[in-house]
Amino acid sequence: MIKILFFGCFLTFVNADGFADVVLSCSLVEEGTGLGGMGGGALFSRTPATLVLRDVPVGPEESLDTLTPFVPPSVPDPDLLLFENKVSSPEIPNAALLLHADCNEQEVMCEISRYTPRGLPESSDPAYFMVSLSVEGLDFSTSLILQTLPVDKYEQTLTQNKLSLPLSQSGTLLTKVIFLVFSDINSVSAPLRGEILLHCGFKQEEATLAPEVGLEWRLQHRGKGRKVLEMKSRLDDTEGAPVVHGERKGSMVDTAQVLSEGNVSMSLTELKVVDEGTYICTVNLGPFHAQQVIQLRINQPPQVSLSEEKLVLKKTPQTLSCHCAKYYPLDAEMEWFFLPPTETEPKLFPHQGSLSSHRQHGDGTFSLSSHLSVPPSFSPGTKITCKVSHPALDDPLYISIVLESPQPDSYWWVLGFLVVTVLFFYQVMK
Ligand SMILES: *[C@@H]1O[C@H](CO)[C@@H](O)[C@H](O)[C@H]1NC(C)=O
Repeated sequence: MIKILFFGCFLTFVNADGFADVVLSCSLVEEGTGLGGMGGGALFSRTPATLVLRDVPVGPEESLDTLTPFVPPSVPDPDLLLFENKVSSPEIPNAALLLHADCNEQEVMCEISRYTPRGLPESSDPAYFMVSLSVEGLDFSTSLILQTLPVDKYEQTLTQNKLSLPLSQSGTLLTKVIFLVFSDINSVSAPLRGEILLHCGFKQEEATLAPEVGLEWRLQHRGKGRKVLEMKSRLDDTEGAPVVHGERKGSMVDTAQVLSEGNVSMSLTELKVVDEGTYICTVNLGPFHAQQVIQLRINQPPQVSLSEEKLVLKKTPQTLSCHCAKYYPLDAEMEWFFLPPTETEPKLFPHQGSLSSHRQHGDGTFSLSSHLSVPPSFSPGTKITCKVSHPALDDPLYISIVLESPQPDSYWWVLGFLVVTVLFFYQVMK
């Protein structure tokens, strides 16, 4: 019996040995020639393609029924773009995650494009492709460089129409991964003065070990780019220490990890607002290079306070202010509520406080105040609350004050004073 599992837009085939074939819907992206283009410039055309990752190891917890592996169409079709890849060396890290990606819930991005290694002429023997693969909502992202495998001239039956590359007998383009750069994080946020590790790693095929690795971390923000860290090292000998150059103070890679594990993660300490942006990790290996992109957001919660420690009811309206200080990013919201002593549900003030303008501090953080007019008609015991919402806060912050009745002892004092005065005049008159 043949069973096919549908995981959203993928088909997954599992065999008995704990290996699965993952079949991904991709697009072949090619730079177009501007046919029918509106604004000129480079146009990209997309052609549906399929990427079959063979023998992805799956954990023992995947107790799926025994299923047949992926079977290509019985009649090879030279119009189909069917990339077949044995995931053996190097293994795609966390590829088993793809088994759980559900296209209904998670956006899967798989783009394949032609790749020309630096300094090598564009050739079809072998040909190279770059695959960008990521799943939104799952921390899985990788860029693969595929190299086509030779097809035996005597076996060769068909040529792929679009790419003019020889197809295997089953109508697939046989490839292997020779180099990949991956990350297990797409976006990350951290507070000011905090520390963060931006994860990035690379793997290469053992057989084509490049002698030298070059690493560059760049930051791109609001149209501006700058280099954060650069490293160059030989992989084959231990002589000659790796050359690391950190342009930003407090940026670091662990060179021992780079050489032994291909771990090119960068740590940043003493985070500032200016560290926010898009980080690009580029690994150069011989004629190949590939990248990963990670978003870093600075998220600093506001310090919230009220202008008064004690609020006594007066005959005229008085101002109560709620201060939000030193937060980032800009999106802070303040709302005022009141709860009369006889009620149980707080009510929104019909006239919310007037907002001060945002103040920006030297460190890039913001402050904002809301000034509320407390009406004299309120009864003592009314609770007034300032509610603060900000992206760095999981839940809104509440800060309250209870309206007090005018101090009775001051009445007694005035009354006493009057009695004394009256008695005094009474004595004088006598
Ligand atoms: C990669 O290296 C960093 C140090 O730069 C370390 O903290 C991290 O745990 C390493 N990651 C892996 C997966 O080994």
